[in-house]
Amino acid sequence: MKGLILSGGKGTRLYPLTFTSAKQLIPVANKPVLFRVIEAIKDAGITEIGIVVGDTAEEIKRAVRRGGRWDVDITFIPQDAPLGLAHAVKISEDFLGSDRFVMFLGDNVIQGGISPLIAQFAESHYNSQIVLTKVDQPEQYGVAELDQSGRIVRLIEKPKDPPSDLALVGIYMFDQHIFEAVKAITPSWRGELEITDAIQWLVNQGYNVHPYIHRGWWIDTGRPGDMLEANSLVLEELTPTIDGYVDRDSEVDSRVTIEQGAEVINSVIRGPAIIGRDTRLINAYVGPFTSIYHHCVIENAEISRSIVLENSQIRNINRRIEDSLIGRNVTLHRSPIRPRAYKFTLGDFSNVGLLGDSEH
Ligand code: DAU
Repeated sequence: MKGLILSGGKGTRLYPLTFTSAKQLIPVANKPVLFRVIEAIKDAGITEIGIVVGDTAEEIKRAVRRGGRWDVDITFIPQDAPLGLAHAVKISEDFLGSDRFVMFLGDNVIQGGISPLIAQFAESHYNSQIVLTKVDQPEQYGVAELDQSGRIVRLIEKPKDPPSDLALVGIYMFDQHIFEAVKAITPSWRGELEITDAIQWLVNQGYNVHPYIHRGWWIDTGRPGDMLEANSLVLEELTPTIDGYVDRDSEVDSRVTIEQGAEVINSVIRGPAIIGRDTRLINAYVGPFTSIYHHCVIENAEISRSIVLENSQIRNINRRIEDSLIGRNVTLHRSPIRPRAYKFTLGDFSNVGLLGDSEH
């Protein structure tokens, strides 16, 4: 089997973080979501992997290279425009050939990996296997309607009136018949060749499409809130290690990972949390469900349930920062310069939540 990862697209819902960089490279528990996807595919025993890339191709190529670090062989497949998931399959036909393959969306995080799923598909005669899971807001996803015996009747992309609460998880398995399907369908109302329409075509033609119901957690990291939730869930499952330095005045609880070169001085860290390579905490509090990436400084500040990306500095802030997603090379500090006012340099589409006057 081969693997196909979709890592094109625009990532507009994660602006401004994704203005200049790929959403699939935003880290969850200090590891880019895309790297987690590559590892899940490798763990399932697949080593030939194609990655569909768009505008952010160069950044993704720089991060992934040829896959040597995972012992896999990566082929990049350029997509001129994000014309849909089925379009991405269409342009990957040369790479995939007649092999069965798993397609994994590069911004999805799933509990427990995909090895059992792949094994089930590999041993079966299914033409396709899709993964479904119960969600609270099915209208935001592709949704499946099953009959009494659990067979797929209908698949609809982001329905206004969902026929069930079973969403399509961004993991799909196909044989070569999918190429007939993606050539047969036409663009949807949003102008994309939808993979849901292609799978519906397979169903309509009588091909065997098997629905697998996933019972663990699964997150499509499309929006900032989803990133924080995925971060919390992955941190919960991390096996903690301490490779950095913690001084005697600090208090670090057991579910904390401290990466190499990190320094924790007179600080408190409550897990689950991760402190990245060469990051420094000085007189700081880092609360549960927080990931601080590499080369950051948190000094005289408190932060919890947040993600801070590389090279950022947070100093001398007298309120706790919570539920925040802080980008790369950000400086957040208390300024001594008069007048006493908030002074911002914020990127387009930034979102800042300040306390009201009465709360000061
Ligand atoms: O996350 C699950 C959902 O993913 C499914 O329930 C939906 O049925 C499916 O259509 C898809 O919906 P999204 O609207 O969330 O897909 P999105 O546009 O965010 O793209 C998913 C990934 O695929 C993302 O990493 C970008 C990449 N992509 C997307 C498009 C449209 C491509 O590589 N090429 C594309 O043309």
